[in-house]
Amino acid sequence: MPDPGMIVKSRTAGRGRIARNDPDDPTVRASIEMIDVLALPKTELHLHIEGTLEPELMFALATRHGIALPYADVDAARRAYVFDDLQSFLDLYYAGCSVLRDAEDFYDLTRAYFDRAAADGVRHTEIFFDPQTHTDRGVPFAALMDGLTSGLGDGGQALGMTSRLIMCFLRHLSADAAMVTLEASLPFRDSIVAVGLDSSEAGHPPSKFTAVFDRARAEGFLAVAHAGEEGPPEYIREAVDRLGVARIDHGVRILEDPDLVERFVAEQIPLTVCPLSNVKLRVVPTLADHPLKRMLEAGLRVTINSDDPAYFGGYIGENYAASVAALGLSDDQVLTLARNSVLASFLDTRDQQRHLAAIDEFDAS
Ligand code: HPA
Ligand code: ZN
Repeated sequence: MPDPGMIVKSRTAGRGRIARNDPDDPTVRASIEMIDVLALPKTELHLHIEGTLEPELMFALATRHGIALPYADVDAARRAYVFDDLQSFLDLYYAGCSVLRDAEDFYDLTRAYFDRAAADGVRHTEIFFDPQTHTDRGVPFAALMDGLTSGLGDGGQALGMTSRLIMCFLRHLSADAAMVTLEASLPFRDSIVAVGLDSSEAGHPPSKFTAVFDRARAEGFLAVAHAGEEGPPEYIREAVDRLGVARIDHGVRILEDPDLVERFVAEQIPLTVCPLSNVKLRVVPTLADHPLKRMLEAGLRVTINSDDPAYFGGYIGENYAASVAALGLSDDQVLTLARNSVLASFLDTRDQQRHLAAIDEFDAS
């Protein structure tokens, strides 16, 4: 008897579909056809490069630098990845970064993510990095940028992927420290498309960084910000009105504020949602409770992303697949999510059209 839910490739399936066994009736082989979420051409817009540090690479880099880790082995590290909230995750995540010391480490990290993302059908990715996490430990800004940009260049060429870098300020640190970081980034201005805001949200409203974002936009950076992950809808409003952001990272608490929803629908301001992250950090109790589908149905420009996949148990393909399964998303909703990511990206119109055409082609295949 075939396994319930087993995915089998079907030659007859259209629209980039695969056939899947009916979990309710495992005797019926390949009775359900669903969109092949792995093959679907994807754009990823919310991905912290430091959050792609798999325990295997963490141990390899620790050995490279003679660093002792607080885990006996790779399995023990994975077992430790159980979180109560955002802060309990950030504590482990920043500690894990201690193995990232030089350009080669950032290069290896970036190449590993590209390999993993390409396997999940990612064609374009916009990657966050947190310079302060590294420069505050003595890593030179130039080494960080050298490793990241050469990893992006080589990985993109090898795998046919494109990418952009987004520099995030740590919101638990001061606005002055963010301004110093912005100034340190200016020699690398051409390698960074936008600034962002991440780390502990509660008690650190976007308005704390108004002057930094004003300066960043004056220097030609685009802007995004994490808001409405744990923080209130008011932080989402502030990020748009005070920081001039082009999209909101997470933003899942927007549904608590109908006026804000109406505005986001009218202006089609994108939200980069990360379903598995929200479950792991207990923003939602289970994936079945996740507001993603309700956000889509409200007409919001929602996208699916992986956030910190090495810590949250899934890259973008798993985020799509698990969301489809838990929320019963239709094929059209899945295609909308993929198209939303292209439209929400910082690619120019011509490149966006090329990616949209690839999704249409996939849909028609
Ligand atoms: N929220 C805030 N800061 C972060 C996150 C997140 O989900 N991931 C990495 N830094
Ligand atoms: Zn994030």
